[in-house]
Amino acid sequence: MKKEVKIGVFDSGIGGLTVLHECVKRAPHDSFYYYGDNANAPYGGKSREEITGLVFHALTKLQRLGIDAAVLACNTATAVCAEEMRSKFPFPVIGMEPAVKPAGERCENVLVLATPRTAESERLQTLIAHSPNCRFTVYPAAGLAGAIEKKFLFGERLTLSDHLPEGTFDGVVLGCTHYSYLKGEISKFYGAPVFDGNEGTARRLISVLSMRGIGTADHQKTQDLDDGLKKKHKNRVHFVGKNGKMNEILYKSEQMFL
Ligand code: DGL
Repeated sequence: MKKEVKIGVFDSGIGGLTVLHECVKRAPHDSFYYYGDNANAPYGGKSREEITGLVFHALTKLQRLGIDAAVLACNTATAVCAEEMRSKFPFPVIGMEPAVKPAGERCENVLVLATPRTAESERLQTLIAHSPNCRFTVYPAAGLAGAIEKKFLFGERLTLSDHLPEGTFDGVVLGCTHYSYLKGEISKFYGAPVFDGNEGTARRLISVLSMRGIGTADHQKTQDLDDGLKKKHKNRVHFVGKNGKMNEILYKSEQMFL
């Protein structure tokens, strides 16, 4: 009998649910374990040491559940400690990549919104350096991820213009998975297309699973799930950690663009 494939998905809070959604679409026969560290969110302004410790703790919990692969559905965690986690755990660790490349191919003047830790990361600078024909403005949106967390979990008010820089851009890269909740609003604010790394990460997960012989051929086929199937596959998603229930409610609500 085919072994059940278990995938752990981690974020500081609710942001990773937007990535989870893309992963489930592409691997509907696998089981997902979502760990959101909401109690410690946001991570974006914390020290590298603190973020590394929290991510290690989360992946250790997911490891105990027997996961075959982990997705760091968090740009901040990826920028700070993906490499270190790869050296510490036996399963593949798939990180987020801000969609700098696709934005650079289509646009000339791009705003990159990210948390302070991601904005200052070498990883982001390296990506930008590979798209020399586009001008990138990196903006550390210090309070935005935290405000999104509070808006979607507790209904707190969020005024987007308080968090975004003024300016004219022909593209916006969302360098934090929390920002995907406001994709439409951010696009409208600048009158420009937005790019996130969610789909790319889900595709990367599938290719890593296949390369390692963990995944199945079914992965590719089921991108367009009908409603009945969607419901069934949602039941293969488990929410772990102290705040699992909160994340589950949001994931299954209409606020998610499912
Ligand atoms: N969603 C995360 C990211 O992609 C973390 C945001 C935060 O906790 O500051 O960066």
